[in-house]
Amino acid sequence: MTKIIVNGGKRLNGTVKISAAKNSVLPIIAASLLCPEKCVLEEIPLLEDVYCICDVLKSIGASTEISKGRLTINPQNIISAEPPYELVRKMRASFLVMGPLLARMGNIKISLPGGCNIGTRPIDLHLKGLSALGADINVGHGYVEAKASKLVGARIYLDFPSVGATENIMTTAVMAEGETVIENAAEEPEIVDLANFLNSMGADIIGAGTDTIKILGVRDLKGSVHCVIPDRIEAGTYMIAAAITGSDLVIENVIAEHVKSVVAKLTEAGVTIYEKGNKLRVKSEGVIRPVDIKTLPYPGFPTDLQAPMMALMSISNGTSMITETVFENRFMHVCELKRMGVNIKIDGRSAVIEGVTKLSGAKVKATDLRAGAALILAGLAAEGTTEISDIHHIDRGYVNIEKKLKKVGADIERIEE
Ligand code: EPU
Repeated sequence: MTKIIVNGGKRLNGTVKISAAKNSVLPIIAASLLCPEKCVLEEIPLLEDVYCICDVLKSIGASTEISKGRLTINPQNIISAEPPYELVRKMRASFLVMGPLLARMGNIKISLPGGCNIGTRPIDLHLKGLSALGADINVGHGYVEAKASKLVGARIYLDFPSVGATENIMTTAVMAEGETVIENAAEEPEIVDLANFLNSMGADIIGAGTDTIKILGVRDLKGSVHCVIPDRIEAGTYMIAAAITGSDLVIENVIAEHVKSVVAKLTEAGVTIYEKGNKLRVKSEGVIRPVDIKTLPYPGFPTDLQAPMMALMSISNGTSMITETVFENRFMHVCELKRMGVNIKIDGRSAVIEGVTKLSGAKVKATDLRAGAALILAGLAAEGTTEISDIHHIDRGYVNIEKKLKKVGADIERIEE
């Protein structure tokens, strides 16, 4: 079993370079299936989830090649619109191939993604959107089958600004006849990045980044070269690493606009943040004030940083409350943090955290990606050794996390047992 071992109590100093965004690159890789020409993505993050979606593409006949951090996708010879269950079940984001395959092939059969550790995660909004565009959808025996001899633009209101549903509807609508309007669309930067990629392929999309996205269908798309945006969640995680260790860190390759809510909350907690170009300097004297946080769709505070922020609040000098409004079951990290001496009570969708003066290193397990990051952060601040297992979750979304932290002075390593 592979584990991450952290000996806490070290100050961090230096620069951490942020990789490209996982949640941008996955829908963009899926979207490259839309046309038979090659697409090239520069400086992709070498993550388990990226390898996984490449396997999904290969399973249906596309070729993918990673060389010098550049991913070349050639979807010319797609032989099937039925990615196998064994691959799809590994990662929910595989479901993002639904829109592109339906648009290009006129049909798709894909297994239902099911729930996961953070919630039931239904797909009703994805299906509602595709159906409005003219797809005939059948759900049964664990699969979704969608067929459309012709896709026609429509006005689609999302009951919740779902990131994945917005992405699947965008990629289905790009070649539909006429105009599609997505209302109450997700506004995340990853949606803007996907729209920019699609537009570079010849799509006609405006309004991405607002709650109303307009897509005018085009006849053809062409191959493209694209550079994915930096990962705002990875950036936020290292900003919190600086805060929790009372350190002075420079976070490089970050778009400050994308982490505004994180900057606001860390500033409220007493951390000083300076912005210069694509860098943020995060400086903490080690005294953390309690702050209340409510997760919300962008531009609100990201649910993906809720667990890391909880680790930080656990050493604040007061009581804070964190409310999770996006996913119904995203407190799995609480039990593990408690093993490290964190004082937390859960009441429905809220967690009340009484700050403690010291965390103690313990054996803990990552229950999902961001929970794993929170445990590393707690381990950096804790007294003694923290041993984190089930780190495959962490490898899904953080490029070389232990190497990046080690480079700035953390006592952290990955061991094989
Ligand atoms: N929802 C529905 N019906 C749907 C779709 C979503 O009820 O048809 C609900 C979900 O159950 C959830 C909420 O809407 O309660 C938000 O889900 P959303 O669809 O926005 O999330 P997602 O597309 O499944 C992406 C990220 C997540 C991130 C969320 C929210 C990717 C690959 N994943 O998921 O990232 O937490 O948006 O920002 O982009 C992570 O990186 O750790 C991660 C989980």
